[in-house]
Amino acid sequence: MNRLWLHRSMAGVLLAGTLSAPAAFAATENPSTAASKHAMSQDPLHDALLDALYATFGHHPGFRVTHAKGVLVRGTFTASHAAAALTRAAHLQGSVVPVLLRFSNFSGVPATADGDPMASPHGLALRFTLPDGASTDIVAHSFNGFPVATPEDFLRFLQGIAANVAVPSDPLPLQAFLADHPRAQQFLETPKPAPRSYASAEYFGVNALVFSDRQGTDRVGRYRIEPLLAEPALSDEQAASMPADYLQDDIGARLTQGAVKLRLLVQLAAPGDAIEDGSIPWSRSHQEIELGILTLDARMPAEEQALAQKRLAFSPGRLLDGIKPSRDPMIQARDAIYQRAVLRRQQP
Ligand code: HEM
Repeated sequence: MNRLWLHRSMAGVLLAGTLSAPAAFAATENPSTAASKHAMSQDPLHDALLDALYATFGHHPGFRVTHAKGVLVRGTFTASHAAAALTRAAHLQGSVVPVLLRFSNFSGVPATADGDPMASPHGLALRFTLPDGASTDIVAHSFNGFPVATPEDFLRFLQGIAANVAVPSDPLPLQAFLADHPRAQQFLETPKPAPRSYASAEYFGVNALVFSDRQGTDRVGRYRIEPLLAEPALSDEQAASMPADYLQDDIGARLTQGAVKLRLLVQLAAPGDAIEDGSIPWSRSHQEIELGILTLDARMPAEEQALAQKRLAFSPGRLLDGIKPSRDPMIQARDAIYQRAVLRRQQP
């Protein structure tokens, strides 16, 4: 088990979680187009998951319970011809679409340093906004997979970690869980090195979606986002010596020198792939379709960042016609959980 990630960092997070950041309530938008069509989730599992995340990271009013520290960047997206052949979704038909990107650290503690092991996997949330006001999101992170396949298992995993890092520690629930869930064990053991830049990391959508073309043909795929110019990640020693905000500062500095580009792709499922299980990465030799290029133009001005981040509510379930959840249960579960999370992060 990666004791550095689990023990030093989670213990640090638990301690840091007892300190609260200043509250600044802001009206927040409806989390998801899909969600706004439905009643708010009453599923006790969703609240239990949020309770477990709050138990891990503490309550920092106004901040997300995970991925608390983030930075917003404005840009545009230009779709490829191949995108329009894969899906009829309006943002992928070729015209240039404004995008808002939120790069983030995994930790739910806003003060977590960018080079801390708990800052990885880093997050990338994307919002495409169409001229008619419709919008759609991608919520991805810098790890090809997830510890578990279902929200139920995620709850047991989080509860096991909480017991393991509690004082006195009870390692048995986590040990029992990991014995039955080798991919959770693999997630803990796999190094997650700090990137040199938010713009040089690779991001994965993890949960499969169904892409439908104009003729009604469906294809299943997962998002992947890669930098046009890859750069090696930092060593653990380098990451530990970086300033606390080096990733935020870096993206601002890069964008004052010129635009930064990322490539958006869909990795298509091959026969036999576990569509319903985001904890299993698909082979990197699978067919991929390049959906287009994200051009990052400017970091949002500092004075607008905090309020905008509080108001924004990204969700992997905010989808437009032409893209829908697959039989992977996580898109719909995450959509419902993020809705509740938005309400809870507004509470003082
Ligand atoms: C059952 C599984 C999961 C749960 C319970 C969960 C829970 C959450 C919650 C509660 C938030 C905060 C939402 C808000 O307040 O706006 C969040 C944000 C986020 N999650 Fe998840 N998550 C799960 C799976 C995933 C997966 C698979 C990924 C990566 C593909 C992911 C990536 C992110 C990112 C990047 C954010 C930050 C979004 C932003 O910038 O607003 N999560 N998650």
